[in-house]
Amino acid sequence: MSKKAFSVIILAAGKGTRMKSPLPKVLHPVAGRPMIQRVLDAVKGAGASEVRIVVGHGEVLVRQLVEPLGAICFKQESQRGTADAVKAAMPADLTGPVLILSGDHPLITSKDVTHLLKEYENSSSDLSVVTCELKNPGSFGRIVRHKGDLRAIVEAKDASADTLKIKEVNTALYLMDAKVLNKYLNQIEDNNVQGEYYFTDIVSLACDGGEKVTGIKTNRRVAFGVNSQNELSAATRYIFKSYAKHLQNQGVMVMDPTSTFIEDTVEVGAATVIYPNTHIRGYSKVGSFCLVEPNTYIIDSEIADSVQIKAGSYIEESKIEQKAAVGPYAHLRPQTHLGEETKIGNFVEIKKAKLAKGVKASHLSYIGDAEIGEGTNIGCGTITCNYAADKKKYKTIIGKNVFVGSDSQFVAPVQVGDNAIVGSGSTITKDVPSGALAVARSRQFVKENYKPKAPTQTKVKNQENEA
Ligand code: UD1
Ligand code: MG
Repeated sequence: MSKKAFSVIILAAGKGTRMKSPLPKVLHPVAGRPMIQRVLDAVKGAGASEVRIVVGHGEVLVRQLVEPLGAICFKQESQRGTADAVKAAMPADLTGPVLILSGDHPLITSKDVTHLLKEYENSSSDLSVVTCELKNPGSFGRIVRHKGDLRAIVEAKDASADTLKIKEVNTALYLMDAKVLNKYLNQIEDNNVQGEYYFTDIVSLACDGGEKVTGIKTNRRVAFGVNSQNELSAATRYIFKSYAKHLQNQGVMVMDPTSTFIEDTVEVGAATVIYPNTHIRGYSKVGSFCLVEPNTYIIDSEIADSVQIKAGSYIEESKIEQKAAVGPYAHLRPQTHLGEETKIGNFVEIKKAKLAKGVKASHLSYIGDAEIGEGTNIGCGTITCNYAADKKKYKTIIGKNVFVGSDSQFVAPVQVGDNAIVGSGSTITKDVPSGALAVARSRQFVKENYKPKAPTQTKVKNQENEA
């Protein structure tokens, strides 16, 4: 990578009181991914060489998420303000450009970070603050300029009525060289309304120190911080809507972007039709020329080209090959692998099973811990009895071109050879060889002209009457 190395400090120790939720604020998901993960993915995607996250409230839970993703956590013992949080990240050993941002700004992307870094480099500033113009600047820190030059950031709580009229605000994204950061960080004091160490004070200190301080203007999206459940849902809606639009631009037929919920980690091929109220999540991939009907839920699944997912189906961690059809109302549970041209119909549940090309299970079946060979037909109401009294799971293996009559059960472990036929209503407990017919049900008998007898009375002592 030819990009210049940069380090990142993400502030994420705050409580997030206004979320009114026991979950640490930065772990609240925005369109499927926790806010902090979105910020982390954005900076890593832009090539960050090191990411330090300042944790405090909900420390253990935040660490559990971000450490496996490669971030290094630093604990801020008590939340004494954003400057104190930056100090907790021990920046003394950092060198080169440092990006500081908050963990509650989930709409930032790698593209934004790359762009901001470029602007910072081009400006040859010692410190750049990313700013934004807002019609209603509310509680954002105000950018105070003197003859056009950035001079200070004043927090809304400390601002005079005149300062509050300023529309240019601090997005809490800062870029500076580690030397500048370390030179001024320790000079920040807590003499303000909240008695906190405001990182924003670095601006006036750096200006007084003769450093070149500039503002980089960005859009409202980058500035969007989540502080309440309402803002959380607004961020989620924004991602779903804009990702649906992105897919449309790639040739996907999203019928109604306002009621389509495709997470921005999902890939969808051109010429696929997505009906309203579909949820496609995680690392799912949907091929081209597919049809995804309403009320379907697909998570972490791979769907090849020309597959039909009919209404009301629920698909988790499954793989579906070309030209298969699933549903309506099918449930594919983890480790389901459907071969080409398979047909899974309504009220069929499949789990940890591999169905080869052309297998059909069209109605009301449960197939779990199974392998089914090419061209086999599974009749209505078939069940693999995979769970035994010893509380272990056992496997059913059915060969190619087998005909399984309706309402059959396979008591695993059991195997059926190729081209076998299983008679309807059978409970198969023993292996069936290739080409065999297996019938395992009580034989039908017919009594002609049958007249039912009156039931015989059994004398039962009535103890109550005797008492
Ligand atoms: C901050 C800025 C404000 C800016 C706004 C943009 C300061 C003083 N103010 O205000 O100018 O307009 O962001 O959203 O920086 N945090 C810690 N430890 C602390 C305090 C905060 O880690 O002791 C973290 C929070 O978890 C959060 C971030 O720092 O991720 C910002 O803190 P927050 O309290 O939300 O600051 P704002 O009031 O939003
Ligand atoms: Mg905030």
